[in-house]
Amino acid sequence: MKNSSKSMTVAGIMSGTSADGIDVALVRISPPRPFGTSPRDVPRLRLLGHVALAYPAAVRKRVLQAMNAPEISVAELSQLHWRLGQLYADAVERALKKYPMRLDLIGCHGQTIYHQGTARRYLGGSVACTWQMGEASVLAARLGVSVVSDFRPADLAVGGQGAPLVPLLDYVAFHHAKRNRVLQNLGGIGNLTVIPANAAPEDVFAFDTGPANMVIDAIMTECFQKKYDARGATGERGRVLDSVVKECLELSFFQLSPPKSAGREEFGREFSARFLAQCRKHSHRDEDAVATATALTASSIGLAWKRYVHPKLVNAPTDYIVAGGGANNLTLMKMIHAELSPTGKISQHTSDDFGMPSSAKEAMAFALLAYQTWHGLPGNLPRATGAQRPAILGKITYA
Ligand SMILES: Nc1ncnc2c1ncn2[C@@H]1O[C@H](COP(=O)(O)OP(=O)(O)O)[C@@H](O)[C@H]1O
Ligand SMILES: [Mg+2]
Repeated sequence: MKNSSKSMTVAGIMSGTSADGIDVALVRISPPRPFGTSPRDVPRLRLLGHVALAYPAAVRKRVLQAMNAPEISVAELSQLHWRLGQLYADAVERALKKYPMRLDLIGCHGQTIYHQGTARRYLGGSVACTWQMGEASVLAARLGVSVVSDFRPADLAVGGQGAPLVPLLDYVAFHHAKRNRVLQNLGGIGNLTVIPANAAPEDVFAFDTGPANMVIDAIMTECFQKKYDARGATGERGRVLDSVVKECLELSFFQLSPPKSAGREEFGREFSARFLAQCRKHSHRDEDAVATATALTASSIGLAWKRYVHPKLVNAPTDYIVAGGGANNLTLMKMIHAELSPTGKISQHTSDDFGMPSSAKEAMAFALLAYQTWHGLPGNLPRATGAQRPAILGKITYA
């Protein structure tokens, strides 16, 4: 254990599957008092500042092409890995310019280029794998601060899916003695964390619900040359093609019980192209495809809610708290509300309502996970990832 009684200022860096850019959260993390004697003694977090930087257009394009690419040169993968390390260092410098402070540690998630959470046969063995890019040595050298990176492999190595890893933050920041708390992230993929009232960390479970913005973004790019559906205005004008949604929900991913995780491998280029083709069989209006993609996200959340979430909630009021860029898509937020409200009274919020900006939450999670690793403490929640045991996540690059 290192400096276990001291508070630390930690920068968390997150780049999600949307490949929209880099979020940096500057977080003051203080140890529980007394330090870690009960699993319910969790660190305390205070957000000191955060910045969001879009990837330069050429970088975003290459990142999207590299993800799940059937073909890319090894030289280019290596170059991209190092260039992302530089961009992460730029992003932290930008954050420190806006919020001057001395950092003690950096936690960098990196950019997922490939994620396969369940094992498949490969070369005579059985392999699950994950790969996040962004060379941590560049960050450590430029900032003069030690870096924890590469968080997912340690969970995979003990039988987990390597995702989701945000649930520890969700527990630390949102657990409540008298209220059920369900945290919904709407990034490229949708992730959901369930914290029943008065839960201990081991009662928390989480899983991916399917695409959140990924298919909407792909259709907006293909049909409207826009990166996303700003505030859900295009989806709002469209008509939902119910038969397409219904058919999609039959897919094995939606029928799987948790724990489960998804990425561009399931809902990327190929899926979106098939989805758009299906929509176009029923309607020639591209707004309808956007509305239908939005409805797919909402319906997949509704399905997960009815099957896996609602039955596990204890008899207490429930807060459903949304974070991630999709919180800005008002059409999506309305559709989700319509899906959840038939199961009872649920208060729907964004994490901003709790003082946590919805674009900062995941970056804060990686600050917390870095802090855990630095102190030799685990960061995964086995019920969330399916791991056999808690694991200390990540690799440390010393400054
Ligand atoms: N103003 C907005 N209106 C609608 N959607 C938005 C808006 N801002 C961001 N988004 C959506 O959020 C996505 C980015 O969310 P983010 O939480 O950063 O996801 P990830 O973690 O996958 O990078 C964008 O790709 C877009 O689809
Ligand atoms: Mg993002």
